[in-house]
Amino acid sequence: MLGELNQQVNEELYSMYIYEAMAADLEYRGYKGMATWMRVQAREEKIHADIFYNYVTERQAHMELEAVAKPPKTWGSPLELFKAAYAHEQHITGRIHHMAKVAQELNDYASLKLLQWFVDEQVEEEANTSEAVQQLEIAGSQAQAVLMLDREMGARVYAVPANAPYYTKPGQPGAVAGAAA
Ligand code: FEO
Repeated sequence: MLGELNQQVNEELYSMYIYEAMAADLEYRGYKGMATWMRVQAREEKIHADIFYNYVTERQAHMELEAVAKPPKTWGSPLELFKAAYAHEQHITGRIHHMAKVAQELNDYASLKLLQWFVDEQVEEEANTSEAVQQLEIAGSQAQAVLMLDREMGARVYAVPANAPYYTKPGQPGAVAGAAA
């Protein structure tokens, strides 16, 4: 289980990294609202990595950080980019389900409880990215509609996910200094 949890910290850090790369690509193309949306998403991924990290250390295990892979630089268009984000979330869902299965087989109830929070979180993660794909498909090649969507998506604000386990918000007792607000 420890190996799986270690790997998941890397998967979540890569998620943060690929979304930062997507934000940079969007920003470069002038889609500032979508870039903001993606940077908020990247910060959420850091929280996911922190949760797994905190859980491993809470269990008195030794966290081992691996190298984070280099993400692509460009995705061609916002539609292709959000399709790739949705596919990435489906991959992460697969990882979470796989880990839940391993925890179940090992009768590791604490890990299973943690992973159940992530099972729910992934439903939301997939919904967010697939909704963006759907809206971009509806907007199609109408520049006005795409720009309106860009403005709308730019309103997304960062918030720590509800009931995040093994995560203490900054300012609260036990919070990690310098953790994302
Ligand atoms: Fe950490 Fe977007 O899944």
